[in-house]
Amino acid sequence: MANVTFSSPEMKKDVTVYAIAGDTRTLLSVAKANKIPVEFECENGECGSCQVQVSVLSAKTPIGMALTQKEKTVLKLAGKITAQQIEEAETKDLPPPWRLACQMVLRDEDILVKF
Ligand code: FES
Repeated sequence: MANVTFSSPEMKKDVTVYAIAGDTRTLLSVAKANKIPVEFECENGECGSCQVQVSVLSAKTPIGMALTQKEKTVLKLAGKITAQQIEEAETKDLPPPWRLACQMVLRDEDILVKF
């Protein structure tokens, strides 16, 4: 089971939701299902409006994250990810600090999502 904590100045307080094991929804789907006001437009990894800052809260080693090509392109254009961070995500399984909520699939780890 993964705990996903959403934090934003737009919310009165942080909200933690529980994603069941094997849940393969996107972070945006989970936010929408729980009425978390993460911005979005295209839901297809193209507009960049759903950028969120993600940190792993579990003590264990972060699970490697596969970035879609769209996500890499949009985050790089927005200045949220460097070429080095993309390389580290691909070669060392290090998750980058910014993600597109509509492209990020939940993994079995606790995360803090700021937006
Ligand atoms: Fe457009 Fe995620 S909603 S990139």
